[in-house]
Amino acid sequence: MNTKILQNTKENIELVAKVIKNGGVAAFFTETVYGLGANALDMGAIKKIYEIKGRPSDNPLIVHLDCVSKIDEYAVTTDLAKAVIKAFMPGAVTIVLDKRDIIPYEASGGLETVAIRIPKSGLARELIRHSGVPVVAPSANTSTRPSPTKASHVLDDLDGKIEFILDGGDCEIGLESTVLDCRGETVKVLRLGGLGVEEIETAVGKAEIVGFDGGAVRSPGQKYKHYSPNAKVVWYHNGDEEQLKRLKSEYDDYIVLNGMDNMEAIENYARELFAVFRAADKAGVKVIICELCIDKGLGRAVNNRIKKAAGNKV
Ligand code: TXA
Ligand code: MG
Repeated sequence: MNTKILQNTKENIELVAKVIKNGGVAAFFTETVYGLGANALDMGAIKKIYEIKGRPSDNPLIVHLDCVSKIDEYAVTTDLAKAVIKAFMPGAVTIVLDKRDIIPYEASGGLETVAIRIPKSGLARELIRHSGVPVVAPSANTSTRPSPTKASHVLDDLDGKIEFILDGGDCEIGLESTVLDCRGETVKVLRLGGLGVEEIETAVGKAEIVGFDGGAVRSPGQKYKHYSPNAKVVWYHNGDEEQLKRLKSEYDDYIVLNGMDNMEAIENYARELFAVFRAADKAGVKVIICELCIDKGLGRAVNNRIKKAAGNKV
């Protein structure tokens, strides 16, 4: 199969929507990372996604919708979910709720819950709207590789395995969505991501971070190796020059990524992190020494991805 990168035009959106509607798989831009989309109600199409990515079948997929008013068709909304939806959707957030029967277990990884996201990207929402179905979409990388933040990253991983990549340029956020369990009274953060925990707490009250840091695994994705370049990733604490010196003396062939302590710079770091991982692999770099960011806002998600890429169970 010849994989084509398609520019953002009305005809191309309709073409890719038709592929998804008819049981095929295609990659598309979202503002977080590129997704690999299929009809969420078609079990055969969902199977193809797992095959193409080489993803374990107990790791559930996110169901993407084009508008807030459709959430109730696929999930049982709670008061807490309503507050999160009002404050942050569309956006870089995914909510986990009890699923309705229409969602097949193939999509939910056998769970009774379903993860729902509405991208902010107008291109992604147009595509979903034209497909006329809910769209499951994991990140469009081969399992364990860094998520793709450019169409060319998708091509690097999936060339020959899918027909189309709908190109929307570089992803503005560059990290995956924040995953929130909204079934209870308070929000549980299952995966740190593009929406900061502080912002969530300001809007809907205390958020407990449960998806990592040695806590019980509640989001199946947390137990797998993730976001890894071929290069070895090591990290040091923000501003710790001693630790940096020690790491530099341990390795010969390395690059250093400087962590950030102001929010605007952290946004740039987040946007570029996976692209730098991939570029380092292409250049044959052996070791990537990453300085952590300050542990606030998007910085927390950046630190989480760096530690995971380093093989830490965070
Ligand atoms: O930004 C994003 O979320 C991107 C774009 C394409 O939307 N998608 C993405 O999907 O990152 P994926 O499949 O790479 O990651 C989905 C995460 C996994 O950690 C998975 O375990 C978790 O969401 N998840 C999905 N359904 C869940 C559920 N029912 N309960 C708990 N966690 C769930
Ligand atoms: Mg992924």
